[in-house]
Amino acid sequence: MARAVVQVTLFGLLLALVTTLPNKDDWDIYSFHINSTVSSRYATTVITSRVANRMDESKEIEFQVRIPKNAFISKFRMFIDGQAYDGVVKSKGAAKQQYTDAVSQGQSAGIVSSVGRTLEEFKTSVNVAAHKKVTFELTYEELLKRKLGKYELQIHARPMQPVKDFKVDVYIHEKAGINIMEVKGGLSTNAMANAITKTHSDTQAWVYFYPTEDQQKTCDRCGEQGMNGDLVIVYDVNRDNSFGDIKKSSGYFVHHFAPSDLARIPKNVAFVIDQSGSMHGRKIQQTRTALIRILNDLAEEDHFSLITFDSSIFHWKRELVQATEENLASAKTFALQIQDRGATDINQAVLEGARMLNANPREGSASILILLTDGDPNSGVTNLEVIQSNVRKAIAGEFPLYCLGFGFDVNFEFLEKMSLQNNGVARRIYEDSDAELQLKGFYEEVATPLLTDVTMVYEGGINLTQTNFSQYYNGSEIVVAGQITDNDIGTFTPQVVAVSQRNRKVVFPGTNVTVESADVADSNIQRVWAYLTVKQLLEKELRLSGPEKESAKKEALELSLKYSFVTPLTSMVVTKPPGESSDVLHKPKEGEAPQTPTSNARQYGLMPTVSDIVMAYDDFLEAEEESEEIHATYVPQTATMGTTIDFPVELEEEEIHATYGPPTATMGTTIGSSVSSVVYNDLHPSILPGQLVHQFLLKTESLSLPLCYGVYGVVSLKLLHHPNKALFVNGELDEVLLGGFKRIAIHTAAAHFEFDAVKTIVQDGQSTVEYLQQDIVVSRNSVTVIRRAKEIDVVSGDTRIVFLIHEKEGNFYLWPVIRQQPMDTNVTGILALKPAVYEEVQQTPSTILKIQNTEVIATRSTTADYSITSAPTLDCWSVPSEFALQRPINEFIVTQI
Ligand SMILES: *[C@@H]1O[C@H](CO)[C@@H](O)[C@H](O)[C@H]1NC(C)=O
Ligand SMILES: *[C@@H]1O[C@H](CO)[C@@H](O)[C@H](O)[C@H]1NC(C)=O
Ligand SMILES: *[C@@H]1O[C@H](CO)[C@@H](O)[C@H](O)[C@H]1NC(C)=O
Ligand SMILES: *[C@@H]1O[C@H](CO)[C@@H](O)[C@H](O)[C@H]1NC(C)=O
Repeated sequence: MARAVVQVTLFGLLLALVTTLPNKDDWDIYSFHINSTVSSRYATTVITSRVANRMDESKEIEFQVRIPKNAFISKFRMFIDGQAYDGVVKSKGAAKQQYTDAVSQGQSAGIVSSVGRTLEEFKTSVNVAAHKKVTFELTYEELLKRKLGKYELQIHARPMQPVKDFKVDVYIHEKAGINIMEVKGGLSTNAMANAITKTHSDTQAWVYFYPTEDQQKTCDRCGEQGMNGDLVIVYDVNRDNSFGDIKKSSGYFVHHFAPSDLARIPKNVAFVIDQSGSMHGRKIQQTRTALIRILNDLAEEDHFSLITFDSSIFHWKRELVQATEENLASAKTFALQIQDRGATDINQAVLEGARMLNANPREGSASILILLTDGDPNSGVTNLEVIQSNVRKAIAGEFPLYCLGFGFDVNFEFLEKMSLQNNGVARRIYEDSDAELQLKGFYEEVATPLLTDVTMVYEGGINLTQTNFSQYYNGSEIVVAGQITDNDIGTFTPQVVAVSQRNRKVVFPGTNVTVESADVADSNIQRVWAYLTVKQLLEKELRLSGPEKESAKKEALELSLKYSFVTPLTSMVVTKPPGESSDVLHKPKEGEAPQTPTSNARQYGLMPTVSDIVMAYDDFLEAEEESEEIHATYVPQTATMGTTIDFPVELEEEEIHATYGPPTATMGTTIGSSVSSVVYNDLHPSILPGQLVHQFLLKTESLSLPLCYGVYGVVSLKLLHHPNKALFVNGELDEVLLGGFKRIAIHTAAAHFEFDAVKTIVQDGQSTVEYLQQDIVVSRNSVTVIRRAKEIDVVSGDTRIVFLIHEKEGNFYLWPVIRQQPMDTNVTGILALKPAVYEEVQQTPSTILKIQNTEVIATRSTTADYSITSAPTLDCWSVPSEFALQRPINEFIVTQI
């Protein structure tokens, strides 16, 4: 009996694998969230997908996402009916039985693995009973690498369907201070621009991406299956001293070292270029173009050489020569004439490049050997190990070798190993229209050596990651992590020793550098250490042989298991509800071509195995969406209007009022610093000192400080009026000093909504429904309300507003944030205000800002930014509301919400 059921299940599973694309009518991804938190360049991203089976029968439901190749998956869970199923990281060996069982049963069909240049695909599925739901939650971690002066956080959004409740929240926290921040990527197009909001303070940044369902269907990279593209958050941090910053937490430290205020070191660079027959066509064309552009960028003090090879070697010059105009012109002519022909003798070519660099070891310069090839060695010495050994002897640690593998016909592992054995790295160049940019981009990363022979010394530090680096290039970064002996900061002395321009030894003392303790939100320093250590052990494993290799492998495996990283040495076994097969997930190796998992066990893939326990679903499933009352402790406000509450802001307000004249005098007039300090309340005739005030921020688009202004008394405000859509959003302020909104109302022609921190009331026609639970989705005509634990997300056409639910000292209040600005220009209200634009025209004795054509004295102030969940305190310029708003506050006041 049991056996028969197994077969039925299996049959269903195979069917599900054949139909890889979800049919919209079958199952519905009703919520898809991506939450990425970056702290000290370490990114932890959680993807949460909630799916409902809308069918009258059970259904195989898939979860398929793409994550950066550099990342390690660290957690995977499924929730079915309140029951959590956790993935467990096991060694490949331990997971092997499940894996081989699956392969032997031919169940690896239809499984995808690494995709594109930077992503890997994670895929799993589970059988969900009729009208039941499942939540998938995947966590991955990654240390962002600085390249060309920037860190890039790539988030791939591809939920497989347009999703009503779709959002991406990114939070970046860098103690050193964020100095540039940009959002790029295929999804950051004009059509989507209004779905992206950014905020930042000195040390924190928030990026929100809240596209509406319509946008998910119509944007450039979207279709019937919703979005498919990237959001790339690009940023860099301040570096106040060349030593960089050290952070510690629970006995671990991480040091980021990226000085840029150094002179460049002249370089000796030898380019060894494959011109074998396989480079025919576009590849050789792109190589020529890239070479010419690279030659254009050489500085006159650099020396260089150019060798092309097939089964023979072709010299442009026998020795390295200086990059004079004349030499460059001649080299470009040579580059233009490179023709594809013959076989591939990598051994001979690389040895010749090494010989030229060794023959010209100019003092105080940095030598670099760059190999570009698109195929395996098939002429001359072809034994890979012999080539590697020859090359290692020829280079003898004197300079780094960078290998660029063009396309997928190269043995990338061979190139990678050879690079790692010689202090370099290997990079894949993808055959595409931008291959020449990839080549040029790689060259730029190593174009400006600033230091050589860098030794990072940490007295009082143990278990250090790599500390010796042969070269350091401008725009990159050296990261070292380790443990502080006995967590004793007193004996911990970091120092960097290196060789700088003109062969000078330089020491960067770490004595005056304060080792900052990371705060609680930043306590992942140990994971940074584990991540770096595992990455470097995996490289070591590739580079070495014999017992050293085995020991690196063993150590990497132990740490992967301890920190639950899915690496090439571990697998994640996803346990499923009884009656279902487990999945075994493998990480593919860097740069591997997409293949089927049967031919390559190292790739991610879903490897279902058959379990012999079969259980009927209906026995143990119940609806996931249990109603639950929240905020049971909510207490109505007791403070009343006009109560005097001592608070520093009151004083500031008084100061402001003391320094500007009556409106008629100030508008359009420069206010001298000699204005008498009479308390002038003409602008707010009804306001008395100590009256209730709510602070609002008006942000700028640039890096300059936002404006802040007070709104006095318990009033109701026009938040957004969208006359063309007949959409009106109003809010009533609460009675709490510096609080927020007590109630928000939304009116459309057909329905009315009202929210507070506890309930949602929906009124349409004759009926009124009151919801007390969180996690609801209510749609009425054009308006969709998605209520989550701490926010209410309202979508109406091209507008998306989120009301964050804040709590302060037991008081709950709402704060509106526009996540998607309507395109229409007729829209009015507090949320429709354009970003502040001002000019600082005077700094002393008091700051005067010019806003439009008006000059006004501004006071430096701080206020909580309630548009962010954590309500961080931001610095701002405090000005009277009419200056910030550019019109009297009365125009924003409504009598009824
Ligand atoms: C995102 O993740 C962080 C860290 O785990 C958490 O503190 C935060 O509440 C999450 N944000 C959302 C919107 O889920
Ligand atoms: C290194 O990069 C920084 C920032 O891009 C730049 O200001 C500096 O001039 C560069 N240094 C050299 C030697 O090119
Ligand atoms: C690092 O370099 C220093 C000085 O050049 C040397 O003494 C030390 O042995 C090197 N350490 C390693 C692990 O290679
Ligand atoms: C370190 O700090 C001390 C005292 O503040 C100062 O005298 C010294 O010059 C500093 N050293 C360096 C290298 O900045």
